[in-house]
Amino acid sequence: MTTKIPPLQRHSILPTTASLADHERLAQQQLDANAWAYFSGGAADEITLRANRSAWDGITLQPRVLRPLAGGHTRTTLLGRTLAHPILLAPIAFQRMAHPDGELATAYAAAALGAGMVLSTQSSTALEAVAAALLSDAGRGPLWFQLYLQHDRGFTRELVQRAEAAGYEALVLTVDAPTSGARDRERRTGFRLPPGIAAVNLASLVAPPLIELRPGQSALFDDLLQQAPTWDDVIWLQSITRLPVLLKGVLHPQDALQAVALQVAGLIVSNHGGRTLDTAPATAYALPRIADAVQGALPLLVDGGIRRGTDVLKAMALGASAVLLGRPAIYGLAHAGAAGVAHVLRLLRDELEIAMALTGCSALAQATPALLDSPRQQIFTPLRAG
Ligand code: FNR
Ligand code: LAC
Repeated sequence: MTTKIPPLQRHSILPTTASLADHERLAQQQLDANAWAYFSGGAADEITLRANRSAWDGITLQPRVLRPLAGGHTRTTLLGRTLAHPILLAPIAFQRMAHPDGELATAYAAAALGAGMVLSTQSSTALEAVAAALLSDAGRGPLWFQLYLQHDRGFTRELVQRAEAAGYEALVLTVDAPTSGARDRERRTGFRLPPGIAAVNLASLVAPPLIELRPGQSALFDDLLQQAPTWDDVIWLQSITRLPVLLKGVLHPQDALQAVALQVAGLIVSNHGGRTLDTAPATAYALPRIADAVQGALPLLVDGGIRRGTDVLKAMALGASAVLLGRPAIYGLAHAGAAGVAHVLRLLRDELEIAMALTGCSALAQATPALLDSPRQQIFTPLRAG
């Protein structure tokens, strides 16, 4: 006699889904070419996209044995608050293109797993609805709003006021994308936002007046970038909000020091997941240089290519207070909705605990450069892409 086993449902998380890479494969099967190009792609030759990964891979962790591990934990503090673990979800635009539940599903999963969430200005769900979904959960992590300054600073101010009123606890000003990078993959697939998906938080923003370019003028410099944010806008933003302001997309130690001088609340060392300037350095390369420069003056976060618990531990060892996870959350979302995002977060946190145990760390405060094998040689060797 044979027992009939019901077929696994298409949206179930298969028992064989053991890693974030498994989620990526399932997402690729689920998404159409348009959405796949948008979510997975990087700029130009995708050298930085690949370098983000190979840089974490290229750092060796030193196992340590027989250290006391009982009572170990992943807790950490960030902006005066204790977090269950140092993993936040990075801002990713247009999540309803990955799954109809979009940012709401991501928010439920983040809250359930105690992960912080950074909502994109260009979310496809209203910022108020996302806050309502997450804020009532007692075990939730921080909720931050990612801000793109809009050409209309009055509109930008209203957007900040909406985020404050909705309960967002910090503003993350993204400074590395005054323009998108050269998105070859999107151009090749003829990327378009599908009907019904839009940057709803910006619905009432009036397009800037058309500028008649004279021959020889640049559509970028003489039009789009006329209103590009500068350091003065950071000061302006700090003056109009009571929320802490963090800068996202800093890679150069001099820029980090300028941010310290302006007393920003924190920095996210990021190259936008390899989507802006191709051949920009991997974040695992930039992070220790920035940590050296700022000497603990403000918390550093990092994102880009973090796919394993060992990557999280390496980031902490190189001076990060927390990490942000980008695409993998969207891959979980794409094939399994909120449960998929939750599973991705769960895997990463479990892997972080394993990595801590096997390097002899019972607390993240013990994650120092001493965990890394010959850190200078590892980090300061030029990295090969690919
Ligand atoms: C992003 N990122 C991003 N950043 C931001 O500040 N605002 C945004 O709206 C978006 N949107 C966005 C869309 C997509 C599809 C991607 C892949 C990325 C960048 C994101 O916050 C983060 O920096 C990177 O995704 C981190 O790298 P990994 O984890 O994706 O490798
Ligand atoms: C992107 C923008 C939205 O990377 O930040 O697609």
